[in-house]
Order: sequence, then C-alpha cells, then structure tokens
Amino acid sequence: MNTVNVPLGDRSYSIQIGKGLLEQSGPTVSQLGLSGPCAVITDDHVGPLYLDRVIQSLKSHGMDPVPVTLPHGESTKRIAMAEKCYEVLANHRLERKSPVIALGGGVIGDLGGFVAATYLRGVPFIQIPTTMLAQVDSSVGGKVGVNLPQGKNLVGAFYQPLTVICDLDTLATLDPRELRAGIAEVIKYGVIHDPELFQTLENSIDRLLALDAELTSGIVARCCAIKAEVVRQDEKEGGLRAILNFGHTIGHAIEAISNYNQFLHGEAISIGMVLAGVLSKELLGFSDADQERLVALLKRTGLPTSFNWSDDQLEKLLAAMALDKKVEAGEVRFVLAQSIGKVGFGCRVPSPLLKNVLKSEF
Ligand SMILES: NC(=O)c1ccc[n+]([C@@H]2O[C@H](COP(=O)([O-])OP(=O)(O)OC[C@H]3O[C@@H](n4cnc5c(N)ncnc54)[C@H](O)[C@@H]3O)[C@@H](O)[C@H]2O)c1
Ligand SMILES: [Zn+2]
Repeated sequence: MNTVNVPLGDRSYSIQIGKGLLEQSGPTVSQLGLSGPCAVITDDHVGPLYLDRVIQSLKSHGMDPVPVTLPHGESTKRIAMAEKCYEVLANHRLERKSPVIALGGGVIGDLGGFVAATYLRGVPFIQIPTTMLAQVDSSVGGKVGVNLPQGKNLVGAFYQPLTVICDLDTLATLDPRELRAGIAEVIKYGVIHDPELFQTLENSIDRLLALDAELTSGIVARCCAIKAEVVRQDEKEGGLRAILNFGHTIGHAIEAISNYNQFLHGEAISIGMVLAGVLSKELLGFSDADQERLVALLKRTGLPTSFNWSDDQLEKLLAAMALDKKVEAGEVRFVLAQSIGKVGFGCRVPSPLLKNVLKSEF
C-alpha cells in the first residue's frame, strides 16, 4: 500500500492507495476516533458493486452506517440532491461528530463533500473515490460543490476530508472510456510537474490501461503527491493551484459548447492540452519534439487529440472561454508549458493567435 500525506496544518490528512482497502474502511474510520451513526453516499452504479463491502466493514467496527444511493451522472451534483441527503441525515439523527462517507466518482465526492461541509455547519468527511479521475484528482484538495443551471461548480466550499481511501480494485469495473478519460489527468500531472512520470507513462501506458497493480498504485500515489504539494502551497487557488488547469481553459469550453454530452471531461481536456501545447510552442518555446510526445501519448491512451469545429462553433468556443471562472480583468489567462514537466500560469494569449490556433489543422 502507498500512503501520501497532505500537509495542511490542523487539516492535514493522509491518502491510502492499494488493493482490498474497501474491506479495511471500518478499521480506517474507527482509527480516526469515529463511531456510531454515519452516512455512506453513493450512486446506483457503484452502490450495487461496492456498498456492501463498505457497510459490512463499518458495521464490524462500531459504526452504524446509513446508505444513501443516488442516481449516477453529473445531474446528481445539484442542490436538490444535497437536500435529499440532508433529509436522510436528519431523519437518522446524524450529529456533529457523525461522518459522511462519499463512495463513488467525482460527482459523489463533490456532492458528498458539499453535504458534509454544510450539514450542521460541517461534519467529518471521508472520501472513497472509485474512478481514476476521482482517485488522482477530485478527491484530493478539498474542493466540494454542486452545479447550477447557469454553470458547473458555481456553489461550493473548500472542505478537506479526514482521509481518502483509494481502493485500486474498484477501477477494474470502470468503463474503459472512463478509465482513459481519468488517465488524461494523469498525463496532465506529467506535463505540469513531473517529466519522470511522463516518461513512465510513455514506457508503460499499456500496463496502466491494463491496471497492473504495482504500476497503478505508484502512479496514483505520484499524482496525489503532486496535487497535495500544489494544494499545500496554494490551498485556496490564489496562484500556483492554477497549474492544475493545464488544458482546462479550452477543455472546459469544449465541454460547454457540446452541452457536456459529447466528450467526457478527460477527453475534452485531452484536446485542450494539445491546443495548449500549440499555444505553448508559439509563446513559451515548447519544443516540437515535446508537443509530438504529448500528442503521441494521448493517442496511445485512446484519447481524442483534435476536433474540427464549424465557424459557428468556433465563435461559441471563444465566447465560452471568456466566461471561464479564470478570466482576469476581461482577459483569458492560460497555463502554458515551457517543456514537459515545467509550466507557467497566468499567460496572456493574444486573441488573434488563439483564433488562429483553434482554426488550424494541428
Ligand atoms: N473537486 C475537484 O477538485 C474536482 C476535480 C476534477 C473533477 N471534479 C468533478 O468530478 C466529476 C467527474 O468525476 P468522475 O469522472 O469520477 O465522474 P462520475 O462520478 O460521474 O463517474 C463516472 C461514471 O462511472 C461510474 N462509476 C464510478 N466508479 C465506478 C466503478 N468503480 N465501477 C463502475 N462504474 C463506476 C459512475 O456511476 C458514473 O456513471 C465532475 O463533476 C467534476 O466537476 C472535481
Ligand atoms: Zn480536470
């Protein structure tokens, strides 16, 4: 098992990464000094597969778990679902010391964390992420929240979990497309911070796609450690945390103009990273060779690397970028790469260049 610490003073916590950890969730939770009633929030894909293991383990270690199974999918990340959770928690008389456990992907983690942050003004929160994306990204760092009809993640909080349990066994049942989309974020960590990780991926992407246990454990741990380090330096996104958004400015816009139903997040980010690479070549001296390595690795992972949009879509794409939360003084700022492993943030991109790059065949 790998353990990664997230050092945030009195909000520090550890992330456990390994196999067979769902069955150990009871001991892990009781070691945190918790007992009695708790809620386990999950969705209707994950619940039938894994809820029982968690419930049994919690029960045999002094907990009295109340399961809350919600529909799967992004539309579950909304206030009405949080309200449904509050009602179950209140009906079962959960108290200030009763933990909320999120068992699922990023949707359940973000929603469960939001419920934990707000019910009784905050109760203990535990993440058990079950997608690649949730294990390497969304379960670490404390961003929790829900969507509004006006946009994604518009209501939320910074609320750190007490611990994160990444059971690699759960990844085996993931839809292969979801697995590949999660690996887009893994590749991102290589580009923003870790040339060695990038090289490991180049050497072993097939073994990662086959979920080789030792390799996957090391890679998930490395990604969590990078995110933990970035969050330690900039918990509330004053500056450095922006580097986690490499490929995301364009990626978010691609998701928005395709109504969030054509691409998975990681797929949109894959195209966004390729375009950020092209901008990086123009503005930061990112080399042709590094750009080729990035595109080749994304392709081998089975991720899309280009999209041909119409003029109409291009205008929508630019408008969507202008609405991004990261806009500063009316100007879209980008995270761009100098080389694989080194990025800069807050980069200005002249809009004629952006338009040209989006229009170009690349
Ligand atoms: N908080 C953050 O810092 C942060 C960072 C990145 C993304 N996010 C959020 O994460 C969400 C996306 O997360 P996601 O990609 O995990 O999506 P998701 O939670 O919707 O999970 C994807 C699908 O896989 C299913 N699933 C989950 N685990 C499974 C398993 N082990 N076996 C079989 N099926 C399984 C789910 O039911 C769902 O249908 C978005 O809402 C995004 O905004 C948050
Ligand atoms: Zn992302």
